[in-house]
Amino acid sequence: MTNTKRIAVIAGDGIGKEVTPTTVKALEAACAAGGKQLAFTHFDWGADRFLRDGTTLPHDAPEMLRRDFDAILFGALGDPRVPSNQHAADILLGLRFKLDLYVNARPCVLFDKRLTPLRDRNEKDVNFIVFRENTEGAYAGIGGNFKRDTPDEVAVQEDVNTRKGVERIIRYAFEYARRKKLKRLCMSDKSNAMTYGHGLWQRVWTEVRKEYAEIESRHLYFDTLTMEMVRDPSQFDVIVTCNLFGDIASDLGAQLSGGLGLAPSGNIHQGQVSLFEPVHGSAPNIAGKNVANPFGSALAGAMMLEYLGWEREAQLIDAAVHGAIREGKTTPDLGGKFGTKELGDWLAERIAKHGLAGAGA
Ligand code: NAD
Ligand code: IPM
Ligand code: MN
Repeated sequence: MTNTKRIAVIAGDGIGKEVTPTTVKALEAACAAGGKQLAFTHFDWGADRFLRDGTTLPHDAPEMLRRDFDAILFGALGDPRVPSNQHAADILLGLRFKLDLYVNARPCVLFDKRLTPLRDRNEKDVNFIVFRENTEGAYAGIGGNFKRDTPDEVAVQEDVNTRKGVERIIRYAFEYARRKKLKRLCMSDKSNAMTYGHGLWQRVWTEVRKEYAEIESRHLYFDTLTMEMVRDPSQFDVIVTCNLFGDIASDLGAQLSGGLGLAPSGNIHQGQVSLFEPVHGSAPNIAGKNVANPFGSALAGAMMLEYLGWEREAQLIDAAVHGAIREGKTTPDLGGKFGTKELGDWLAERIAKHGLAGAGA
């Protein structure tokens, strides 16, 4: 394994431009501590570039990223000056689809019981991961408008579910549970109402779960899942669901574990270039104010290192974020007074100071 990995950085819009540089610093510090190196290349894809010259995702970008990079660090996309959100759909959904990043892994981990809005819950109660199918479902972009902008307008948005797509995400979730020795896995759909698409999820699920008898597997309809996540989150280790429901479940899970500013994610296809980003968006309401929480992005950076096989360096970042929260060094969303940049610098300094001894601290 080489000691240098090539990272494409797409900071994007809004707070993506503020949190991503802090993560680059934390990554540099963690890798330096472990005698490793990251070579970063920055891409300016986002609203500014789109408004300047119409570029969203260059047509050769997926092939270039696959060929020239080991992983992608992503910020966020979305800008009030682009109400259609066209650039975000082209770039973010474009990369997820064209790089075939079929796993969207979104861990929901409560670092400190002060941070959950739930009464009488602690770190043991909120510790699960959502696996969101990431390449099809309601996001497939198939549909259209008929008699647009007339009183008779009809809008069609197809929900695409393929046997291959459903099987590979369910299987990935089971394999993850097996690898991490997690006991419970829950698949969630709306097969009671969406009988064709989610009927397929049911049939594939019934087949695949037989191969993982050691894992306690169960099914919940998605409306019930959201209720149960709030009522008693301690019953979940691994949740697997479709693209749209995974989007919703992961924001809910983020809130249970301290808020969107803390939640990381990985868009993964094992063995291929994969993309890591915070779960949150570009947050135009706080952009440019140096108040965005950089921890979601930092933890996404840690997921990226783990994906690259550098677990000890990943732990350095995790431990630094834990340390900051423990010491109350946070941005205003978590009740602190720190700025994004100051907190980013603090993380990098802490990592440099503790070196490899800081892993797991
Ligand atoms: P959002 O995640 O940007 O913000 C939701 C709320 O959470 C806001 O009040 C925001 O201030 C707060 N928040 C988010 N991240 C935070 C952080 N790091 N620190 C502190 N507070 C934080 O979602 P939204 O407002 O629904 O969407 C804004 C734009 O972002 C839209 O254009 C949307 O499409 C886009 N978006 C992009 C992504 C992505 O790039 N992956 C994800 C979600 C939303
Ligand atoms: C996310 C976002 C995206 C999604 C949007 C920006 C299209 O909410 O990454 O969770 O729905 O997947
Ligand atoms: Mn979302």
